[in-house]
Amino acid sequence: MTYKIAVLPGDGIGPEVMREALKILDVVERKSGVKFQTKFGHIGGEAYDKFGTPLPEETKKLCFDSNAVLLGSVGGSKWDSLPPHLKPEIGGLLALRKSLKLYANLRPIKVYRSLISISPLSEGVLKDGVDLITVRELSLGVYFGEPRGMDEEKGYDTMVYDRKTVEKIARVAFETARNRRKKVTSVDKANVLYSSIYWRKVVEEVAKDYPDVTLQHMYVDNAAMQLILNPSQFDVILTTNMFGDILSDESAALAGSLGMLPSASLGEKVNLYEPAGGSAPDIAGKNIANPIAQILSLAMMLEFSFNMVDVARKIEKAVEMVIEEGYRTRDIAEIPEKAISTSEMGDRICEKLEVIW
Ligand code: IPM
Ligand code: MN
Repeated sequence: MTYKIAVLPGDGIGPEVMREALKILDVVERKSGVKFQTKFGHIGGEAYDKFGTPLPEETKKLCFDSNAVLLGSVGGSKWDSLPPHLKPEIGGLLALRKSLKLYANLRPIKVYRSLISISPLSEGVLKDGVDLITVRELSLGVYFGEPRGMDEEKGYDTMVYDRKTVEKIARVAFETARNRRKKVTSVDKANVLYSSIYWRKVVEEVAKDYPDVTLQHMYVDNAAMQLILNPSQFDVILTTNMFGDILSDESAALAGSLGMLPSASLGEKVNLYEPAGGSAPDIAGKNIANPIAQILSLAMMLEFSFNMVDVARKIEKAVEMVIEEGYRTRDIAEIPEKAISTSEMGDRICEKLEVIW
């Protein structure tokens, strides 16, 4: 069995954290006997610099011809003044999400016990543990709703949700909850927005098929507050494209760093896996970025695209053990002088994975 993986390191810290994830993949290949064929492609600002477009046709083709896409990150201030369709974010990542028809973005976060002290929240708030997953709708909402555009007088976007889209993402959330603590919190703004009133109605209809799962609705402003006041109450957060973008960053902050948040984007055929944290251009190229989100994204790829669930659990275990042993990149280090580099963190996790295999 050989799986084809499109590897798109992208901008900023993308290439250096990707390198560490691929080291893990080497270990997996050696230990499991499963073969992976990796092919590199260009995306984002670096692709624009080389080819004049943030998503070259060749990259799209590579993705369509692969079994999964592993992406680093895109964007940086260098490309901020480009027209919207050439920006790494819009013309690169969002265009790729659209062409792969990615509709569900899963962003799990756990607060490791030994990292409680670096969380901005107090120990009292975190004592019951935080283990939640944001199920973010990825194909519509204000990100893709039409009309959208800009002229001399105004800029505008349209927040829209239709039945098909809400049903699909709601099912992902309920199915996810079934394998967890069986609680879905659907986050919307149904006190104000029509698209949210509609969202809530459809979510309630879908919920009838999942009587074993508890459904709760929450307004997004309250959800943002509840994540800080009592994050342990959440199991699965089901929400729209934009609310999920915002709340998942907040969830990563609970764990101490954006560098801890992996993600899986499920599509029609080819899924995409990427850290949720962004390209962090300020620390790029210094070998100090946290590779854990990229490594955990790789684990999600093995689980969701290749059904290698046990291997995914092993990688997560190795990450947790390395953290519990006190190894820290700078973003999660209490004592900055003791922080280890990106590549050393990758090495430690590889070693641990070999030991526990
Ligand atoms: C994310 C990012 C993207 C988004 C950007 C880079 C387009 O913030 O994956 O969370 O807004 O979805
Ligand atoms: Mn984001």
